Amino acid sequence: MTLRVAALALLMVGAAAARGPEFTAEERARILAHGPWPPPIAGDASNRVSGNPDAIDLGRRLFSDSALSRSGYIGCVTCHQPDRALTDLRPRAHGIADVDRNTPTLANLRLQRWYGWAGASDSLWMASIRPLLDVRELDTDAAWIVRRFALNDDLACRYRKVFGRAPDHADDELLVNVGKALAAFQETLVTGRTPFDDFRDALARNDVTAMQRYPAAARRGLALFVGRGNCFVCHTGPNFSNGEFHDTGISSFVAPGQVDPGRHEGIRIVQSSRFNLLGRFNDDATRANATATRHVVLEHRHWGEFRTPSLRNVAVTPPYMHNGSQATLHDVVRHYSQIDSERLHADGERILRRLKLADAEIDDLVAFLHTLTDAEGERRLLPPIDPKPCRRQRTDERRSRVRGPHPNVRARRDSRPARRRRTVRACIASCCLPSRRWPSRVARRSPDRRRRRSASTRSTRTASRSVACAAV
Ligand code: HEC
Ligand code: HEC
Repeated sequence: MTLRVAALALLMVGAAAARGPEFTAEERARILAHGPWPPPIAGDASNRVSGNPDAIDLGRRLFSDSALSRSGYIGCVTCHQPDRALTDLRPRAHGIADVDRNTPTLANLRLQRWYGWAGASDSLWMASIRPLLDVRELDTDAAWIVRRFALNDDLACRYRKVFGRAPDHADDELLVNVGKALAAFQETLVTGRTPFDDFRDALARNDVTAMQRYPAAARRGLALFVGRGNCFVCHTGPNFSNGEFHDTGISSFVAPGQVDPGRHEGIRIVQSSRFNLLGRFNDDATRANATATRHVVLEHRHWGEFRTPSLRNVAVTPPYMHNGSQATLHDVVRHYSQIDSERLHADGERILRRLKLADAEIDDLVAFLHTLTDAEGERRLLPPIDPKPCRRQRTDERRSRVRGPHPNVRARRDSRPARRRRTVRACIASCCLPSRRWPSRVARRSPDRRRRRSASTRSTRTASRSVACAAV
């Protein structure tokens, strides 16, 4: 009898070990807070082309277009490589020159409030302008991009379709529009469901059979994540990030004597940029989405702080941390295990403390982190580019775009009465462009009719035209 009880007890212990630990009500709530996945993703009110299929298509093309860069061989895909989880697997990025930071993957970007490791951008489109202008990355500018469009009718046609004007204006608006198209595309990069999501949903439904499919080691790692490890405090929510900035004891030395100021510099950049959400390029007239930018306060504690990264698909995006200093997930967890909380200089950062994890516990946490990977893993193939050419525009529009920009004249042209329109065209012919490109009515008339006109009439017309030109 006693033997049978003992055997039963052993069996139960064995089953529990295979299943992994049970969770307290508090831990259960913390686990459920990491879902459901995918969460509803709203459009971006600061970007009027967010969710627009033509803008997504344009952004997709620009994302792979290395001719956007001054060198002609660096595109977004040079560092955000589709078959490498949209990163480059290097500790720090390298474009035309070395970059100080690790290339983050591009996924679930709409769930973030700040962009970049230091949050130097407050919108996805602002974060997409940064690499265009960075001399170590695409090293381009508005004038170069205008030239790029001028050489590619199809791309220019798509730009016009999205933004309602030709890409012939070498100004901030062009940079912002390109940033917004790139952002519209990147918003579509969302990771899929993972074994963790299945477990989390099974836990929500109390579906014990479905829960048992989750590996026991991952379940033990999850218990550490939402328990003693305190990881959930920062890596929280469906995207496993609180979107905030912390010092986790990673060295911020870029080179001997040179420090990466992290969030401290990020705040200064975002506040002083003409592309931030407080500026004129935010398409949300209410500016409700600019509250965080308006109220963020620069403090000394921001030195050496970096944004909590998402942990979705983290297993396929090594190396880790803002400077790529941790080669594997084991290294990251060992770092947290040995962290010296006295050396964390952020005021009041009391969440992190030395965990002194056993080797088996480190393995469990890593096993858990692996269950945050979706079926695609590192192969995040971008949607194929549609080979169908963009519908061609009226000839005169294309000619004006490619040969010489007259945005002011053309923008107003269509709204003028017919007689005024003729004057403008004649004006362009006589004072702005070589007349063979803009054949005026006079030039197109038959030689006979032209001869019949007296010299005096002609001089009167020229005089009145110069007055009209001055008014244009
Ligand atoms: C030379 C490599 C390189 C190239 C080329 C590059 N990036 Fe990046 N990207 C990075 C690095 C490094 C960061 C982190 C920057 C930082 O934190 O200061 C980053 C960050 C980003 C972010 C912010 C992601 C986040 O999680 O906050 C976005 C968005 C982005 N890049 C989009 C682009 C786009 C669009 C292009 C092309 C126009 C591009 N990148 C080209 C290396 C690159
Ligand atoms: C105080 C907030 C905080 C806590 C607590 C925390 N993290 Fe982090 N985590 C961060 C920040 C911030 C970074 C980026 C640090 C950097 O780049 O310098 C990070 C980076 C990481 C990375 C690297 C991700 C990448 O893409 O580079 C992993 C993995 C990670 N943490 C796992 C954990 C685990 C596991 C725990 C619990 C043992 C934990 N974190 C606890 C804030 C936190």
